[in-house]
Amino acid sequence: MSQRTLVILKPDAVRRKLIGEIIGRIERKADWRVSALELRELSREVLEQHYAEHAGKPFYEPLMEFMASGPVVVLAVEGERVIEGLRTLAGPTDPIAAAPGSIRGDFGTIVRENLVHASDSEESAEREFKLFFPASA
Ligand code: TYD
Ligand code: MG
Repeated sequence: MSQRTLVILKPDAVRRKLIGEIIGRIERKADWRVSALELRELSREVLEQHYAEHAGKPFYEPLMEFMASGPVVVLAVEGERVIEGLRTLAGPTDPIAAAPGSIRGDFGTIVRENLVHASDSEESAEREFKLFFPASA
């Protein structure tokens, strides 16, 4: 089942020079391919839409500030079961709970600075792709 998902390499990943490491892990998975990619800073407007489900939660404002603290890499990845697959490759939200071998498990300690975003469902993937790549949606 070929799918498309939306991935963000967060500001900590870019600052720590992990772009190549993380994209390398994604590209090594059989059948998966990067189909769109851009380094950019995210506006408050885009972040509000992206994280609308978390508005009002205690971690929301610090999360928004962190996500706007530097450039991110936004990419679309296509391939076999890539939505679930990228969530597995990323690991659970809390990097301390994430198994070694996963991106968050190998590189993270702080929940907020957990290196990557990956869409959590087909609906989220399509919504997020349209939000970040409106010209090609
Ligand atoms: P969430 O959608 O729950 O996690 P995921 O990125 O795994 O889908 O939360 C979005 C981001 O918000 C998460 O990647 C990191 C941040 N966050 C916190 O800073 N503190 C928290 O307690 C939670 C749940 C998330
Ligand atoms: Mg989420």
